[in-house]
Amino acid sequence: MPESAQMSIIGKPQPRIDGPLKVSGGAMYATDHHFPGLLYAVPVEATIANGKIEKLDTTAAEKMRGVRAIFHRANIGKISRSTPGQGFEGICDERRPPFDDDMVRYYGQYVALAVADTFEAAKAAADAVRVTYSKDEPNLETDLQADDDPKVFDTSFGPEKRLQSERGDPESAFANAAVKLDQTYVTPTETHNPIELQAAIAIWEGEKLTVYEESQAIFNMRSVLAQMFGLPKENVRVITKFVGSGFGSKLWPWTHCPLAVAAARQLGKPVKLVLSRKMTFQAAGHRPRTQQRVRIGATAEGKLVSFQHDYVYARSMLDDHHENCGEATTFHYSVPNLRVKLGRARRNTGASTDMRGPGAVPGLYATESAMNELAEQLTIDPVRLRGLNEPKIDESLGIPFSSRHYLECLELGAKKFGWSQRNPEIGSMKRDGLTLGWGMAGAAWIAARFPAEASIELRDDGTTRVACGTQDIGTGTYTVLAQLAAEKTGVPLDKVEVALGDTSLPEGPISGGSLVTGSVIPAVFAAADNAIASLLMVATKTSGSPFEKHKPDDLAFDGGRVFVKADGAAKGIPFGEILRQANLRLVNGNGKSEATFGEEKPKFSKHSFGCHFVEVTWQPEIARLRVSRVVTVIDAGRMINPLAARNQIEGAVVMGIGMALFEETWYDPQNGAPINSSLADYIMAVNADVPPIDVHFLDFPDKEINELGARGVGEIGLAGFPAAVTAAVHHATGVRVRELPVTIDKLLATT
Ligand code: MOS
Repeated sequence: MPESAQMSIIGKPQPRIDGPLKVSGGAMYATDHHFPGLLYAVPVEATIANGKIEKLDTTAAEKMRGVRAIFHRANIGKISRSTPGQGFEGICDERRPPFDDDMVRYYGQYVALAVADTFEAAKAAADAVRVTYSKDEPNLETDLQADDDPKVFDTSFGPEKRLQSERGDPESAFANAAVKLDQTYVTPTETHNPIELQAAIAIWEGEKLTVYEESQAIFNMRSVLAQMFGLPKENVRVITKFVGSGFGSKLWPWTHCPLAVAAARQLGKPVKLVLSRKMTFQAAGHRPRTQQRVRIGATAEGKLVSFQHDYVYARSMLDDHHENCGEATTFHYSVPNLRVKLGRARRNTGASTDMRGPGAVPGLYATESAMNELAEQLTIDPVRLRGLNEPKIDESLGIPFSSRHYLECLELGAKKFGWSQRNPEIGSMKRDGLTLGWGMAGAAWIAARFPAEASIELRDDGTTRVACGTQDIGTGTYTVLAQLAAEKTGVPLDKVEVALGDTSLPEGPISGGSLVTGSVIPAVFAAADNAIASLLMVATKTSGSPFEKHKPDDLAFDGGRVFVKADGAAKGIPFGEILRQANLRLVNGNGKSEATFGEEKPKFSKHSFGCHFVEVTWQPEIARLRVSRVVTVIDAGRMINPLAARNQIEGAVVMGIGMALFEETWYDPQNGAPINSSLADYIMAVNADVPPIDVHFLDFPDKEINELGARGVGEIGLAGFPAAVTAAVHHATGVRVRELPVTIDKLLATT
């Protein structure tokens, strides 16, 4: 097919098509919806982290004005446990249904629910519920030692073995290595803090349930709710038109959602439940604390001979969320002897969950920090050390990479940053009276496809509609779908309608793993091809049509026009005209693409790569540390929308500055409460903390992922970043911080 003018829409920096709706306040987020008779629910939060409910006194609360009900274990009705099914079905990270027993296992666990005519009345009633507990000591120990079975796990979505990966003989190779490194790195609990709070509106119509939630995975939520309430899936509809970001906290359903559904069922009215910021710290997931020991053995020349990564992460008392810190360890560098092992430690906190770059982000902080420390030990430049250990294939799987340009990332990053000017001596570099620190680190993140279905309509007014039951979590999915549809149909972008965020649409992928763009491309293209095939059929079957004498095979479609191949595009007729002639409103086509995520015998190892170069400034006199310059290079295949992609990487780097310097959820050791549970006390990077971020994309299309060669970029910008910061901090101050975040007290101890 000739490259038409429209083809160039792929790869063009395209502003968000939903931007005007968002900035004008017209975008309907889950809780912007209102319904006649809507009631408001506010949960009652446990104030202990370990123990039992002895008495729940609702008398005062029930008598309050506007109160419809106070629900608890005895009157909420049946909420069944959901079980994981195939693929992304029935996943939740807190599996115990709300109010299932009288046990309390974390601070903030919901123990009752007040429902009233107004939010204020419900809040007052929730506060008036008196709960008496018998208390046990909560376990909030920050030192993580694995407390689980040393051999095998029985989990739905995690590992089955503690031994994650092994090759060669890492122990004796380490023992005999000329140069050895053995360090432990700690990452704290982090809380996602999307600006839009978690919430649900539940509406029952007979046996049919509709839920508005800001979900990153509406079809999974539908499965979970169907199981919990004993409904056929067709009877459950989940709608998520806009998401005020999620970072993983909205991937899997939390217990507030079935509570809203159960309350709506009991009262026969729609119920809205919006969490407070404090509640989101307690019962809507967090990145778990990790403790990771890294042992590396190397030759004096810097060739790795042994790599061992032993990590332990915290999890809640009942749940099994897997924090896969070893994800990138197994393939990142060439090393003949390697072992990755994991362990887990139960704590009295809410369930942990995926947070932007789950697993790899804390994992790469540890392994890339270790590589930087090893470089110093060897007095080899850290960029060079990585180059010396570039693998030819994925050595853990014994298969080639689909597309790996890590060395090109390092080369371009070093050049853009001016790395060759670096004087490795600590504290030796100065500018404007400030001490400079320069550090770098590498990044990797999975690339794969989730299964996806999509449909395309070609309409008689010359417009098109693309539909896919995926979500736009603020990343630009609306715009990417419009670009894909525009490319294939020749319809200008402003005449493309995009429908997503509704389980009544063709089943789309979860908004997770940075995999949406890569997953939807084949589905949307197949849908367009099928719609176009129908159109060509119509063109040949309509009496009076100029194509009446032709077979569909004689015809071609390009730039929105149908023409006889032999005649060329110049004689083409717009598809709207053909449909009008045939007296048809529209033709449509469905498309489907298969998953590659989790495939058993992959032919290629598929990942994105990248690197970060970071400058910090340090003023020892007043202990002021700033990130002053960032260069990030990303190898993620072809960019569909470089504007949205750059925005993703910049956002990830901002989050990386927060992870490196500020973010940490603190638990009160007495009662287990997350104590900095507000946007004032949980410190994140703000504008003043963020310098200009210089983002570069390599352009190596990865045709093993899809026909456009596009991988996703939601998460990789965060991977490795904190290790580049701690390396820069060390270069400036001489202090190696191995426990994030790099707070000032850690630097003062030795300055
Ligand atoms: Mo991301 S943690 O896959 O939302």
